[in-house]
Amino acid sequence: MKTVLIAGGSGMIGQTLSKFLKNKGFNVLILSRSKKKAGYLYWNPISKNIEGKHLDKINVIVNLLGENIGEKKWSNKRKKEIIDSRVNTTRFLFNTRINFSNLEYYVGASGINCYGFDDGIIKHSEEDDYGVDFLSEVIKSWEESSRLFLENLPGSILRIASVLDNNGGVLTKMKRPVSLGLGSPLGSGKQLMPWIHVEDLCEIIVHCIENKLHGTFNAVAACDSNRDVMRALAKAMHRPFFMPMVPVQLLKWLYGEMSVLILGSMNASNEKIKATGFNFRYSNIEEAVKQLLSKK
Ligand SMILES: NC(=O)c1ccc[n+]([C@@H]2O[C@H](COP(=O)([O-])OP(=O)(O)OC[C@H]3O[C@@H](n4cnc5c(N)ncnc54)[C@H](OP(=O)(O)O)[C@@H]3O)[C@@H](O)[C@H]2O)c1
Repeated sequence: MKTVLIAGGSGMIGQTLSKFLKNKGFNVLILSRSKKKAGYLYWNPISKNIEGKHLDKINVIVNLLGENIGEKKWSNKRKKEIIDSRVNTTRFLFNTRINFSNLEYYVGASGINCYGFDDGIIKHSEEDDYGVDFLSEVIKSWEESSRLFLENLPGSILRIASVLDNNGGVLTKMKRPVSLGLGSPLGSGKQLMPWIHVEDLCEIIVHCIENKLHGTFNAVAACDSNRDVMRALAKAMHRPFFMPMVPVQLLKWLYGEMSVLILGSMNASNEKIKATGFNFRYSNIEEAVKQLLSKK
């Protein structure tokens, strides 16, 4: 069975993906800046150190590296960390490729926000241009660094939507006010939020590996309005959903430029990945949220 190295595999997606791949019979190694447990390989992309052991056994790299985009306000320092932790790390990984003598396939994470935020009317497909805001610029450079691998290797770049998981991320953040009975739309609530259930994301990664897909794919199940996502969450948690909308100005004051993650609207197509034979298990927001919340 193939051995997969998940760079950044200690994070939210990586932890679920690691279990998922092991259940499918893959061997899994995690590339991390801290050598926490068995199965972790140490590296330090700043001092340009990588533990050489086992690299020759790796057949697939899944690159999930990057400082968390929604964790801290976007000061200039934070913006640099967000870029460097994706672009410089990926370039360093690429520069060590001589060690990966059995590498057959590469999967690079990217973000669905590459098209920029608009009013959600345009349904973006993979051939559309990058947007012109901060996130679009980050993603453009991030994808360019991943494409270094794709010059001589089959591989895919996945433009991932907001990942719904019980283990952290956007769902955990949205759950907090709802559990206190304070569920309400953020801003107008009309803005479209592209999302994907974590299980479907893991399935897409395996689908790419097994079929050696080559190219860039939107990894998005559906785009629902913020109001519908919050309502689905309140329903699944048996909590009320009648609070007034959270004012736009308050969210902008609290989160600064990063508020675009909550207030920005965008719509994206999943036709390209579906045309390769992939079927989403979860494309209804109520069912996806209900299934995730019933897991604990
Ligand atoms: N979660 C989502 O909704 C979502 C949506 C779209 C795209 N994505 C992208 O998918 C990837 C994985 O997402 P996630 O939610 O699992 O992220 P996460 O929980 O924040 O984990 C990212 C991992 O990257 C590594 N990392 C962080 N900063 C780093 C740095 N400065 N240098 C080197 N490594 C660093 C960390 O591993 P160590 O600490 O072990 O080194 C961390 O576990 C990210 O690139 C993210 O932008 C996520």
